Amino acid sequence: MELCNHLLAIHVVLFLFLFPHVATKELTTSKTDLSALLLFKSQISSDPFGVLSSWNESLHYCQWQGVLCGRRHPDRVTALVLESKQLAGSISPSIANLTFLQKVSLSDNHFHGNIPIEIGYLSRLRTLNLSINFLEGTIPSTLGNSSRLQIIQLSSNNLRGTIPPNLVQCKRLQSHKNHTFHHRKP
Ligand SMILES: *[C@@H]1O[C@H](CO)[C@@H](O)[C@H](O)[C@H]1NC(C)=O
Ligand SMILES: *[C@@H]1O[C@H](CO)[C@@H](O)[C@H](O)[C@H]1NC(C)=O
Ligand SMILES: *[C@@H]1O[C@H](CO)[C@@H](O)[C@H](O)[C@H]1NC(C)=O
Ligand SMILES: *[C@@H]1O[C@H](CO)[C@@H](O)[C@H](O)[C@H]1NC(C)=O
Ligand SMILES: *[C@@H]1O[C@H](CO)[C@@H](O)[C@H](O)[C@H]1NC(C)=O
Repeated sequence: MELCNHLLAIHVVLFLFLFPHVATKELTTSKTDLSALLLFKSQISSDPFGVLSSWNESLHYCQWQGVLCGRRHPDRVTALVLESKQLAGSISPSIANLTFLQKVSLSDNHFHGNIPIEIGYLSRLRTLNLSINFLEGTIPSTLGNSSRLQIIQLSSNNLRGTIPPNLVQCKRLQSHKNHTFHHRKP
């Protein structure tokens, strides 16, 4: 009996030793990411499916619909994926404060206004899909500075102007280029 308890204790200790993240499961909060997400939400004027109703402070933001957080940095937002949700509004420049973002997909919604130039400051961004919206203005030249960008889809918007030269030179861009830029290729 006593031996059993002993063994159990050893097991628990071993378990905590092997899986320390289980023991400290409660998520820490990045104030920057939280306020950036709330600002993003504040610019959404229509959300007919109530997708963003889960975006409230009774849930940790890593559990909000469309928000993914990192494995190595569990409190930092790495992806924002809200596709085909009939969301209307503008894209808040505050998403540039989500500095761990690797993927932004807001495709097939009713976003209008400009693509915030601040998106180009996201140094970890790999995928940007803003296709099928009502975005206007030009493609921010800052996107050419996102050195990890691999996929960028902006088709089916009301964008004008040319593709920033530094973006065309982006070595890591894949063949999606084609589909992405076909509407106004100079
Ligand atoms: C917050 O989101 C959760 C999950 O969607 C929901 O059950 C809850 O009712 C929401 N709370 C408020 C105050 O809207
Ligand atoms: C980013 O966060 C800082 C500090 O909270 C804030 O002052 C700034 O306005 C934010 N930037 C954007 C574009 O929202
Ligand atoms: C971008 O979004 C469109 C529309 O939702 C989708 O068809 C396409 O597959 C997406 N592109 C990528 C690379 O995921
Ligand atoms: C790109 O980065 C370089 C070096 O950091 C900077 O000088 C330049 O102004 C940036 N360009 C844009 C369009 O942000
Ligand atoms: C590129 O464009 C050509 C002609 O418009 C089309 O046939 C081809 O399927 C496109 N490739 C991709 C990957 O979208």
